[in-house]
Parts: sequence; C-alpha cells; structure tokens
Amino acid sequence: MHLYIESLGCARNQVDSENMAGELRRAGWSLTRDPADAAVIVVNTCSFVESAINESIDTILELARFKKTGRCNRLVVAGCLPERFREAIADALPEVDQFIGTGAFSRIVDAVTGGLDGGTCLLPDPDRIAIGQTAARERTQAHTAYLKIAEGCSRHCTYCIIPRLRGRQKSRPMDHILAEARELAGSGVKELNLVAQDTTHYGHDLPGPVGFDTLLVRLAEAAGQAWVRFLYGHPESITDGVIQAVAAHPNLCPYFDLPVQHAASRVLKQMGRNYDKRQLLDLFERIRSRVPGAAIRTTLIVGFPGETDADFQELLEFVEQVRFDHLGVFTYSDAEDLPSHQLPGHVSAKAARLRHDALMARQMEISADNLASMVGKTLPVLIEASCEPHLYEGRTILQAPEVDGIVFVKTQPDGPGATIGEIAPVAITDTLEYDLIGRVV
Ligand code: F3S
Repeated sequence: MHLYIESLGCARNQVDSENMAGELRRAGWSLTRDPADAAVIVVNTCSFVESAINESIDTILELARFKKTGRCNRLVVAGCLPERFREAIADALPEVDQFIGTGAFSRIVDAVTGGLDGGTCLLPDPDRIAIGQTAARERTQAHTAYLKIAEGCSRHCTYCIIPRLRGRQKSRPMDHILAEARELAGSGVKELNLVAQDTTHYGHDLPGPVGFDTLLVRLAEAAGQAWVRFLYGHPESITDGVIQAVAAHPNLCPYFDLPVQHAASRVLKQMGRNYDKRQLLDLFERIRSRVPGAAIRTTLIVGFPGETDADFQELLEFVEQVRFDHLGVFTYSDAEDLPSHQLPGHVSAKAARLRHDALMARQMEISADNLASMVGKTLPVLIEASCEPHLYEGRTILQAPEVDGIVFVKTQPDGPGATIGEIAPVAITDTLEYDLIGRVV
C-alpha cells in the first residue's frame, strides 16, 4: 500500500496535494518518497502557462516508466491539466489509468483504488470544489505552512485560465480558517502563508459579507507568535483596513504580494485589470508611509498582445520608480482558449524575451541596492535548512518561501547555534543580488 504523490504548480495546488495525501493516509495508504517503491503514483498537475503544461506532461511520462520498471500498477493524474484539456488529455496519455479534475479532489481515494464510475476522466464542475473543513493534512514542511482561505476566482483577467479551472470564488468560513491556524500554530508551525486565487478578495461571497481585514485581525490573534503572511493579493482589494491591520499587528508580516502585471493603462485595460498606474503609485505610497520597511512584491507580464515599445518603457520607468523589493517577470504565454488570444498585435517571442531580460537586469541592481540597506541590522530569521557545517539557509519576515531571496546564515563553532525550524537573531553582514548573508548573534 505504498503511494507516491508529485505536486506541481502553485502553493494552492500544494495544499490540495497535502489534503489528498491526508485523505489517503487515513484510508490506510503509506506515503513513500521513492516512486520506484510505489504501487500507486498520483501527479497533481498545473496548466497555467505553456511551460507548466510541458512540465506536467513530462512528469507524467517520466513517472509512467515505473509501471514497467517499478512496482506501479496505477497512475492517477489530478488537477488543472485534465481540467483544462478534459477528455483530449485522456486520449493523448493512455499511460494514465485515471484523470480527476479540480472538482473531484475529494474522490481521490476512489480514484486510487479504481472505485470511480464513468471512465478514465472525472470532471465535475469546478464550482463544486470542496472548501470547508479539511481533513488532517499531510504537510510537506514542519515549520512553515500554506493556509488556503478561498478557492476559485470571480475576476476576468483576459490572460488567465484559472477561473475556468477553479470556478468562481468560494471563501472558506472564517471559523474553519481560524481553527486550522490555531492547530498549525499549536503544532509548532512558525509561519502561515495565506493563499487563494484572489486572496485579498476573501469573504465577498460569504453571507455578511466578511472583509479580508477582519480575517487578518482574527488570524493575528489565532496564530499566537507565528508569522502570518498573505500571498496573491489584488491591488484593488487592498483597503486602508488591510494596511492598518498589518501596521497594528507585529506577527502580520509587513509584506504585500500584489501582482500588478503591467503599468501602461492601455495594456492593463486589455488585460482586464481595472486600475491605472496612478492608483498603483498611490497604493504603494500609502503602504510605505503606514507600514515603514514593508516589502512589496509584484509580478509582471511582458509581451502581452498590443504592448508597444512605449508601453514597455513606461513599465520600466514604473519599476524604477517603485523599486520593488521582490519582482517576478513572465513573458506572455498564448493559448487559443484564452480571451487575450483574440487581441491584435501579438508580440514576437524574441521581443518579449528581450523585454524580460531588460527588466530583470534593472531589477537585479534595484534589489542589490535595497538589500544593502539591511547590512548592519539584526533581524529574526526562520532557519530552514543546513547547507554544510555552520552554514544554514533561512528567511526574514520580508522574504516569502520559494519565490523570494534567502539569508545565508553562518554560525561559529564556539558561538550561538541555529536550529532548523526555529527563529534566530541574525546580524546581516553582506548581500548578494537577491540574498542576504549574516551570522547568528
Ligand atoms: Fe497551475 Fe492550477 Fe495553480 S493552473 S498555477 S496549479 S491553480
């Protein structure tokens, strides 16, 4: 009864994988880290952009080998890949025994045991994704956890497939989220990262409705000393109440993850983003004046249909003006099933790549400048891994897991030590372009 799960895609998908792993363990399966040892292999997939689709397919084909060379007798593919391509993907990948879409995660035990009716592809409406109380999760890490507060998205960004894969927004009841936060903090988790497709829009669909600022304040209390960070915010939903909540609670991370995607008004309009550059600059100014030292992260898309050289220059100037603490840049990924595919003025892959590289080159200098101001400070650092004797990796409250830079932490043989999963005071002594270097004091 050994089972192996591979989770691809975003942090929200990781939560789904951890929930499925918890369900499977309760049903008697033991989870293995070695796919060669597994009787059943589950791949939870992503199909957000072309590179993610290719990674999902490559992973499935790679793991399908264990049906010949290992012990695997059943391969299950879950999530966003079958949800996007539906029965066509089942026809294209005959190695797979069962596909289940995002609306069928709760049927994972049946999918694994072969107990599902209705062929190899089960795709109930994603609006039915269960988002209430979760069973015991099989979490990937002990000291940090993602906490899903809502599922789905009710916006209409023209480049994004996710609302079709995950349905309209469905917020979890607040008492379920608070109970999970208490349980995680009580079990020793030092950092809760709130995730959803549209995190800061939380609660608009609940009876009441309930505001994200209210949830933040309640979570600050429920989480005790644990850091609480939100990811995937939307600039339109950052109210003064949200900024105020972060300013008033030391365990709410002074960290604003706000993917703005672009700054040129014409491009933003074509993307279906209902704000302009002026509003963004005003928002960042309000955040920085009320939460001094806050980190602001964003992601941008270059090469969107219709983006001109002048639009790109405006974006570059915007990045120079805001001086983001963390920045991810993506080139536009086209697909026939996206509304943006119909827009005129598609940009060549080469031009998009050049724009990407120009932005990242500028950001590298901005990041190095920003980090230089940290040298000489002593900051709490969550120690996450050991690289070699007396050298660890960790993160400050201003660095999110997986997407931002890290801190390389040194210890002295006769000085204070560091423990993985604990927070240590670290004097910052030096920087790299995106990372900090320091020693435990
Ligand atoms: Fe990918 Fe699905 Fe997340 S498409 S980015 S795994 S919601």
